[in-house]
Amino acid sequence: MKINDLSRENLPRHIAVIMDGNGRWAKNRSMPRIHGHQVGMDSVRAVISTCAQVGVEYLSLYAFSVQNWLRPETEVRALMLLLKTFIQKEIDNLHRANIRVTTMGEIDRLPRDAYELARSGLEKTRDNTGMVLNIAWSYGGREEIVRAAKEIACKAARGELDPAAIDERCVARHLYTADMPDPDLLIRTSGEMRISNFLLWQIAYTEMYVTDVLWPDFREEETLRAIAEYQTRKRRFGRTDEQLSVNA
Ligand code: FPP
Repeated sequence: MKINDLSRENLPRHIAVIMDGNGRWAKNRSMPRIHGHQVGMDSVRAVISTCAQVGVEYLSLYAFSVQNWLRPETEVRALMLLLKTFIQKEIDNLHRANIRVTTMGEIDRLPRDAYELARSGLEKTRDNTGMVLNIAWSYGGREEIVRAAKEIACKAARGELDPAAIDERCVARHLYTADMPDPDLLIRTSGEMRISNFLLWQIAYTEMYVTDVLWPDFREEETLRAIAEYQTRKRRFGRTDEQLSVNA
């Protein structure tokens, strides 16, 4: 499948991706895990480029979870280096493509140099108007909800917010994704059937696409296949088929 084969109707506005299987990809080749992450970076570039060309508005990539800090120190250090290299090498290309880079997660836990680089990358692309590339780094869905709950509680305690006025919109406004629509499509590579603490609140009605393809092998063609599959889905948001055809 090529980009021009994809229908431009019913495109997902927001795609979220759990990029999994780098370690297994490397192990299958008797290579160290980090090699899988390095080749996975080429998939990152391919998916960003495909989504931008297709007209996806938001792309959220799960690059490093809060729980990933518990991996062996050498792997954590290598992943930090990959983030830095990604920003150093790619930020000008992303900027030229009018892509706005944002992050979500506890990025202040990053080593100082990676943190500074990430901040400068965000700053550089801040006013871009094309696709939003949202990189989840030191991110956890439960942690995000706890953070929102604390902020809301503090506002209520200061008298800035009436507890009776707390509703779904109020909670959503206190999440990292406050300015984004919920994901329409969640892609997970490497066949695992779990959410792994990603965007727990936001995926309430998201369509899921799980493929056995390991992340380093997930490129343009696989991205297009996932989007095409999404386009065949009938989203009901808890209602019945009959109700949807009446409203159509
Ligand atoms: C999961 O594979 C992958 C990760 C934990 C890291 C993903 C990170 C990148 C592809 C590079 C950084 C990305 C950006 C955008 C800078 P795994 O190690 O859990 O694989 P396994 O399940 O086969 O062991």
